[in-house]
Amino acid sequence: MPTGTSARVVLLGAPGAGKGTQAAVVASQLGLAHLSTGDMLRAAAAAGSEAGLKAKAHMDAGRLVPDADVLGVLFERLEGLRRSGQGFVLDGFPRTLEQAQALDARLAPWGRPLDQVFEIDVPDDRLTARLVGRRVCGACGRNYHVEFRPPAAEGRCDACGGALVQRRDDTPAVVSERLAVYHRQIAPLRDYYRRRDLLTTIDGDRPAELVTKDLLAALSSPAAKGG
Ligand code: AP5
Repeated sequence: MPTGTSARVVLLGAPGAGKGTQAAVVASQLGLAHLSTGDMLRAAAAAGSEAGLKAKAHMDAGRLVPDADVLGVLFERLEGLRRSGQGFVLDGFPRTLEQAQALDARLAPWGRPLDQVFEIDVPDDRLTARLVGRRVCGACGRNYHVEFRPPAAEGRCDACGGALVQRRDDTPAVVSERLAVYHRQIAPLRDYYRRRDLLTTIDGDRPAELVTKDLLAALSSPAAKGG
């Protein structure tokens, strides 16, 4: 399997499983691009484009954004990476079997399929507490948790000093809808990657540093696959 800066990796996991936290560290350590469809859609919403505002309505309700609006923005980024040869960590994509098939169809003509898919597994009862307590830097996007990963100074980002905010979809009611959507979609997606012998399940109900260690070990050792 290609390792280092050319690996092509997917992180699956429920809302709050730690995809964003882990993708940021793994991408930075391996020199990969971190591609978060949630971040891309939030940026489009903040820019106020028609597509962005449409996406925002779905996100605020905890529903999936229609494929047409997600695939366009993601595939544009992938095209740039194809040209540069840099690998990537996908965070929050795919979420449905149809998205997984669309991704494979996109990568096939480039002759470089996915290398590894991880599912970060965390019991549901832990996820709500993680999401409701999450705070995000409005300036640089770094994430915190009021209890599990607090900033040094309350309400301020350690990295850039920006103000920490709560995401609009991190309220208990929207979190519950997001979890329901995840559980409706994940089984066929899991089967799809299992059949291709790409899926590794990682126990995400541990300190983030231990999860990172397992991800990096599995990425450097394809024989460690399981799940
Ligand atoms: P998105 O932004 O991708 O949200 P999500 O998948 O619901 O995942 P989260 O970002 O909430 O959680 P995470 O797993 O990244 O956890 P994190 O590391 O932040 O998507 C938002 C919306 O956009 C979707 O609902 C949908 O509407 C739309 N969308 C996005 N992609 C789409 C697609 N492909 N198709 C259609 N629609 C799409 O961690 C969470 C918290 O826990 C943090 O506070 C963190 O500090 C803490 N934490 C992390 N790890 C640990 C740990 N090991 N122990 C304790 N705390 C931890």
